[in-house]
Amino acid sequence: MKVELFQMERMQSMYERVVDYELSESGVHALKISELLGGDGAPKEFLELPLGYPHADGTPGLRAAVAATYKGAATENVFVTNGSSEANFIAAWHLFEKGDEIALMTPNYAQMWGLAKTWGLKIKPLWLKEELGWQFDPEDLKDVVTKKTKVIQVCNPNNPTGAIMGTKQRKALLDAARDSGAWLLSDEVYLGAEREAPLTESLWSDYERTLITNGLSKAYGLPGLRIGWLVGQPEVLARVKHHHDYLTLTPAAPSDRLATLALEPKKRKWIFDRTRSILRKNYPVLKEWMDAHGSLFSHVPPAAGAICYVKYNMKIDSIELAERLRKEKSVLIVPGGHFGMDGYMRIGTGPPKEYLHGGLDRVDELLRELGAGKG
Ligand SMILES: Cc1ncc(COP(=O)(O)O)c(C=O)c1O
Repeated sequence: MKVELFQMERMQSMYERVVDYELSESGVHALKISELLGGDGAPKEFLELPLGYPHADGTPGLRAAVAATYKGAATENVFVTNGSSEANFIAAWHLFEKGDEIALMTPNYAQMWGLAKTWGLKIKPLWLKEELGWQFDPEDLKDVVTKKTKVIQVCNPNNPTGAIMGTKQRKALLDAARDSGAWLLSDEVYLGAEREAPLTESLWSDYERTLITNGLSKAYGLPGLRIGWLVGQPEVLARVKHHHDYLTLTPAAPSDRLATLALEPKKRKWIFDRTRSILRKNYPVLKEWMDAHGSLFSHVPPAAGAICYVKYNMKIDSIELAERLRKEKSVLIVPGGHFGMDGYMRIGTGPPKEYLHGGLDRVDELLRELGAGKG
């Protein structure tokens, strides 16, 4: 089987540890285990954790803690995975069949696009429009979602635009899913990484064909734990688990334990406050930098995520621009081309401020060489 290349992930896997400035990451810089454990007895207790096979579904404690973050969900609605990427993968493996139609929010984290292409689905893009602040036009749902639609997949808050789905769009989407009978697959890994907006409302509802994917990599700053989850109806999760038995079997026991700590309500609030404060400090750094370049850049301010989707006014293909930045200036950014759109780049705002300044200075060097630099 020919697997569609996941361009962004392949690029990151190859170069994120090699470059001087890694600005392709979309989450805030990571927490340490010590920050998660705190003082008291927690570190000692953690060291006594037996390293036997853990619960295949995630420990009941972790599942209950995840469930508590969704209105009306209980432990049996939660299945813990290795990252939200695994949650997405097994949901897709369960639902996707050759010839199916998928309504796919676009632009989007390209995992679902690549899997849909690999498995021979017909993709109907549900375009987010820059002139609408990166919202989709609810009118477009009429063409994109029909009785033939098997799955509607959205990423909310969205990667790469950082937009949070509007109230009107949210209602229209839920209505369209119910009317068509399609599965609603919602990747919400940036929920909790809002810069100014209140906590994004999950698309979890009483619509039984809903699967929510999420995890600790972005809003929680804990990507190294590789903890994600699926929220769905127990009968649906029971079928999805059949796929998981061929994959990673269980989450890692130490990660399950640490994730349970991260989801304690007080800790979760502390973590989200930390994320918000990083985003509030760093976005202005990028914005000032863009403003200093006059009409070279334009963007819609991202509402969530340590990312900014920047439109540039230069005659250079985005993939070539990203390649030159990496090779000549040792800076990694994500080209719009990896989201199927040229003329854009996604810049990460999650690292410490000084690092971000350093990376942007390097970008400036190339811009000057391209005759587009400031000053
Ligand atoms: C929307 C989205 N979903 C899933 C993932 C994968 O995250 P995880 O580290 O939880 O596997 C990413 C990573 O960038 C993402 O942007």
